[in-house]
Amino acid sequence: MARIKKINHVAIVVPEIEGALGFWEQALGLEVHHIEEVPSQKSRVAFLPAGESKVELVTPSSSDSTLAKFLQERGPGIHHVCLEVDNLEEMLADLKEKGVRLINEIPQVLPGRKMAFIHPKSAGGVLVELYEVTAEGH
Ligand code: CO
Repeated sequence: MARIKKINHVAIVVPEIEGALGFWEQALGLEVHHIEEVPSQKSRVAFLPAGESKVELVTPSSSDSTLAKFLQERGPGIHHVCLEVDNLEEMLADLKEKGVRLINEIPQVLPGRKMAFIHPKSAGGVLVELYEVTAEGH
């Protein structure tokens, strides 16, 4: 059975990344590792390593995205928690068998990782992202 390795990151939705860096970078002293466009999620993300994990600042890149809707309805704040697994396909198959509702039944392939979201309805109201890291730094 697939195994959870660690919390890969906690994602915070922000109206724009540069403005959020005043707190996360300037005040807390974290450093941006890289900023990335994620077209499939219509979002732009900044990764700030924090020890073994990261803070991910995520902002909508299009006003018609589900992320833009989330930000509009709930305001800035915690968006999702990302758990890193050793085998994503195996984990998804296992969760499906257990009746857990998945947003992505098939992993999306992104630079350095494969990812899928679990539906908050099956996770106590929390959006849970699953990662299988395929290259260092993700
Ligand atoms: Co994420």
